Amino acid sequence: MIGYAFKTLNKCVSGYNGELKLLSPVTPSYGEDIVLLNFEIVNVNENCVKINIGSQNAKPGQSVPDCVFQRPVIRPVKSSDSNFDVFIDTMNRNFYLTRKGENENPLFGFSFASLVYKEQYIEVNVKLPENANIYGFGEVVDTFLRNPNNSTTTIFSRDCPCIPNENLYGAHPYYMEVRNNQAHGVLLLNSHGIDVKLSPENLSYCILGGNLEFYVFCGPTPLDVCRQYTSFIGKPMLPPYWSLGFHQCRFGYENLDALKKIIKKYNEKQLPLDCLWTDIDHMQDFKNFTFDEKRYPQQEMRKFANELHESNKKFIAIIDPCISVDKEYEPYVTGSKKNIWVKIRAKKEVDKEESSDEVDFMDEDDDSNKAFIYNRDEVVEVPFIGQVWPGKSVFPDFFNPKTQEWWTSTLKTWLNKVPFDGIWIDMNEIANFTNGFRYKKIDTSDWADRRTGLSRHLARFSKKFIDMILLHNNDDDYKGPMPIEGNEGCPFDNPPYKINNGRMHLPLNNKTISMGALHYNGIREYDVHNVFGHMESIATHKALTEINKDKRPFILSRSTFVGTGAFAAHWLGDNVSTWESMRQSIAGMLNFQIFGIPMVGADICGFNCPAEEKLCCRWMQLGAFYPFARNHNGIRFKSQEPYTTKLLCEVSRKVLNMRYELIPYWYTLFYYANAKGEPVVRSLWMEFPEDDDTLTIEDQFFVGSGLMVTPVLSPDETTVKAYIPEGCEFYNWTTGKKLNDLERSGNYYILNAPIDTIPVHIRAGVIIPTQEAGLTTAESRTKPYTLTVALDCDGYAYGSIYLDDGYSSDVENEYSLIEFKFENYTLSCMPKYSGYNPMARIHRIRIFGIGFENYFPELFFDSRSYNPPIISYDSDEQIALFSNLNLAINKPWS
Ligand code: NOJ
Repeated sequence: MIGYAFKTLNKCVSGYNGELKLLSPVTPSYGEDIVLLNFEIVNVNENCVKINIGSQNAKPGQSVPDCVFQRPVIRPVKSSDSNFDVFIDTMNRNFYLTRKGENENPLFGFSFASLVYKEQYIEVNVKLPENANIYGFGEVVDTFLRNPNNSTTTIFSRDCPCIPNENLYGAHPYYMEVRNNQAHGVLLLNSHGIDVKLSPENLSYCILGGNLEFYVFCGPTPLDVCRQYTSFIGKPMLPPYWSLGFHQCRFGYENLDALKKIIKKYNEKQLPLDCLWTDIDHMQDFKNFTFDEKRYPQQEMRKFANELHESNKKFIAIIDPCISVDKEYEPYVTGSKKNIWVKIRAKKEVDKEESSDEVDFMDEDDDSNKAFIYNRDEVVEVPFIGQVWPGKSVFPDFFNPKTQEWWTSTLKTWLNKVPFDGIWIDMNEIANFTNGFRYKKIDTSDWADRRTGLSRHLARFSKKFIDMILLHNNDDDYKGPMPIEGNEGCPFDNPPYKINNGRMHLPLNNKTISMGALHYNGIREYDVHNVFGHMESIATHKALTEINKDKRPFILSRSTFVGTGAFAAHWLGDNVSTWESMRQSIAGMLNFQIFGIPMVGADICGFNCPAEEKLCCRWMQLGAFYPFARNHNGIRFKSQEPYTTKLLCEVSRKVLNMRYELIPYWYTLFYYANAKGEPVVRSLWMEFPEDDDTLTIEDQFFVGSGLMVTPVLSPDETTVKAYIPEGCEFYNWTTGKKLNDLERSGNYYILNAPIDTIPVHIRAGVIIPTQEAGLTTAESRTKPYTLTVALDCDGYAYGSIYLDDGYSSDVENEYSLIEFKFENYTLSCMPKYSGYNPMARIHRIRIFGIGFENYFPELFFDSRSYNPPIISYDSDEQIALFSNLNLAINKPWS
């Protein structure tokens, strides 16, 4: 018999524990099998079960360290109180979980007969029923519903432009499954490289090490799963109000004047904008925390930041984790003194003049480098040196407690120079241009003239990238990019099992640091590669909170891990200005909702390649409904700010006004994300799990449960098809007209979408609060509210609004939560908590779907007869509009 069997099994209060013993190996490949394993299955709480299988000789980094992921304390839950039933079959050597009383419907489980457990290779096969629909696993560009036909998703953080199906920046070994109209979630808490192989009826995890630490969340609705998952991994942060406004960025703004021009243009064209970003362009020789005195003089930058603040705008700057190796460079000097860089074991070359950073790096066990001549065999731990934008660079080790001090004080000194409002942490996979192992001199002489140098560097990259995209689109046999030369590495870079890194089994050090690199306490990069961006997000969050205790930090991170949503927002990385890439962004945005990072968006109009006008118009429309809405462009590409053509400007103004009006609704959704862990943007199946036809719909989505967005995703369309679940009614958000059967074809409605229009509909039964759009969110916050009441067939609707000052980190009692209800021809405003008084009042109420025969009835306000200043009623469309009102939003009335 192959695989493992129970050696012991004991029942405890909230589950079982025991030992598994190897009978004989399932496969001779990939190294020695571990003979004895610990086994545990316990109820974490009523809705979550943990399964943990691990080697008895735990090494540092074997399980995800506590500083990366603070596991919630397990409250012993008796089996009878759990929403799961656990079945363990010692004879047949397997286990499975069901929802309580659903014995015929195993949600998760596996057999120990096929379990492979080695130091550097673990394989586990989870049986899936035929009707399983799997979502999640990433970060990857793919359809939202994962392909069940022998597909592999590789989870391994990687600096890679958004090439479909390649492993990208973040690592989320988590999926949600929908089956029989119910949902559950499964997290594998593991920070090693993983291949997830999906085939009909089987889900295999092939993992490069660590523990099998699974958590299963029982649902049963998709929103329940989101709530349960985020209460386990950490609820998403509440973003500052201004961050829900529009953002403008690009790589390649020449100088400060270019930034000033953008602000001027946005103002001139009356386009809303809350935040301007500066990419690595402002840096001196691409060194973090510096300013190029010729093009972005520090004093002028400071003045500019203050001016932006005076006009209620914000300013965000980028920071990369690479710290330039330069003895004149303060952050390098102070960090070196504290000895906080990620390390590597190396043999010391003593006959070179230069010291530690000129050591030739070499892993102790590595034979492939015997060719190098060393005068002494002394093995030392030295900073790992890679090559990033500033050239030779070291990387802060966020596992080292001393790093926090250094990070906070370095950020503080920098923010004292220019008061940025948020931090963009990029390249934190960690990106390294020299494929890991040793610092290799790249000829950077042409970087001296930094602009041409950089363009030349990127020209190569982009040409290759564009070729890859074209190739990919036309060629089914495409196997990914060509490996880059000089890919030698240490054994950890080439473990016995090769995950499908970059879709061509690239060594693990490809475009990153060596897997043999060392973190604090001997934790090896190999074991924790996937968490660098997450650790940097935590450290940056701590630093900003300490620097400015009163304000909520705003951090945007490229690399993310399980739980990053509590600290940072995310953008989907280096996408392309193509219709396909725009379409793919919807699945990306939905994925991050289930990963618990709801503040997400793609680079609007696309990062790589020039964006043509029509695409940019449609992308501005779609992007206005991303939670995080930023127009960002790559270097060298045609400008794509929303004012660059007349049409684009008109389209953008219209849709940005729509976004700004809706910000009270967005903010309320973020409040619920933060308080309850609910997704802000939702797929159709999250809202209608009972309708199987929604499972594959990926071009349409909901903002909260009230607004349905149906973007136009192809060049020459002026209509778009929207799927409407049976028995569900919608009204056009702008006109208030009900979708009617004339527009219907089967379950689809054909919606009009001329170039200046993105179809947006409010769901019957929902009340949405809005505010008039200003040119900044600060201005909008002062403007009058409108309540839009969309009645269902029973004449009922419900909604709410969350209010606070929009920036304080602690709003304890200084917030308001107000509910609105329409029932029996009565609209009520019902404060649940009223600790924040907004300046603005309700001036308008729109009621959609309200029918009266022949007369418009008498109105009462709090039981007194009432004549509001202006009433209009369209009896054909059944729309009532009350304007020039003056009602408090945080006082009870009806
Ligand atoms: C890579 C990022 O993904 C991109 O957004 C940024 O513009 C460049 N790095 C330059 O900093």
